[in-house]
Amino acid sequence: MTPKSRPPGQSSRSLNASSYKYASPVIQQSVLSLLRRAFSAVYSDPETLANTIQAVKAHLYARDYAAAFESCDYLLAYAVRWSSSRALAYLHVLGDLCPHIRQVLTSTPNEKKNILCIGGGAGGEVLALATLANDLRAKNVNILAVDIAHWDDVFVRLRDGIRRGLGWDKNGDGDDIANDSIQLKFTQMDILDVPCYLEEADVTTGLESAGDAPEPEGCNDSFNDRVDFSSLDIITILFTTNELFAQSRPRTLTLLRYITDNCKPGTLLLVVESAGSYSHIQIGSKTFPVQFLLDHTLVDGGARWEKVVDDDAVWFRVDGAVLKYPLQLENMRFFLRMYRRM
Ligand SMILES: C[S@@+](CC[C@H](N)C(=O)[O-])C[C@H]1O[C@@H](n2cnc3c(N)ncnc32)[C@H](O)[C@@H]1O
Repeated sequence: MTPKSRPPGQSSRSLNASSYKYASPVIQQSVLSLLRRAFSAVYSDPETLANTIQAVKAHLYARDYAAAFESCDYLLAYAVRWSSSRALAYLHVLGDLCPHIRQVLTSTPNEKKNILCIGGGAGGEVLALATLANDLRAKNVNILAVDIAHWDDVFVRLRDGIRRGLGWDKNGDGDDIANDSIQLKFTQMDILDVPCYLEEADVTTGLESAGDAPEPEGCNDSFNDRVDFSSLDIITILFTTNELFAQSRPRTLTLLRYITDNCKPGTLLLVVESAGSYSHIQIGSKTFPVQFLLDHTLVDGGARWEKVVDDDAVWFRVDGAVLKYPLQLENMRFFLRMYRRM
């Protein structure tokens, strides 16, 4: 792996791969080996798996995410094919590029640290967070992944694989790990079912010209408090922002406002998303990079978040010649934002 990413304030040229603890081949191989063991049955029929991956790929290419995530076989194929590279990239982001995450995980060992992974059912970020928390010997960490797709089965396999792989479940009997350690949970929900509590004017971006304002949409008021935003220390939205905006811009803006209104000061919000034109969003006749819209919504005009990590193009390259994994591993290029609630 040859990281080309840049922590704030440092030139990418001043660093080499050995500067990054969480991008070393040893730790990366341990993540991949854990995945292989967790999903061993899935790799056992390479031909069927290859066909399923092709089908998922076609749906992803067409941006038909509902179809890509519609069956358990598709979800398993996605997890082994794409969550592998994602887990490696996110471990690098969380462990090397965002020191605030390490600080939260290691501070106050006796207090609960609650982490919410929006769109995290596929498990890449959960595996990365669990690996990091384990490496840091963090205690009292609750990781909750929420996702609109039915990742339950995949998540249970991954969670059990993490417990076994990281030695939390010595008996291999699936018992809950000790309270003072690390909990991994999944809830299936549409995060955009956020309560409809804003005026229409508040769910515009502020970037619209006259006549560009989005049509008001009906909100589902049944969003219950399955997620207690006031208790959260870290929120991640990784490769999910574009999907949320594509589903509904007003509801995504409402979600961001809801998070802002309900999180406590100090909460970290990490957003990673594809860099480049794929992440451009059309507002009226103009297009804006989605990170620009996020900065505008969360930070500009005294909007109660400060930006603490900021990179518009992180290159993450995997070294396929060194790492052993039966499926292709992806290079990734993404933008990175970390905000802290003031
Ligand atoms: C491109 S995948 C990214 C998965 C994972 N975060 C990663 O980086 O590998 C986007 C995820 O967001 C989920 N998602 C999309 N819309 C959602 C919504 N409205 N509420 C919750 N999850 C959603 C999808 O089901 C999918 O698992």
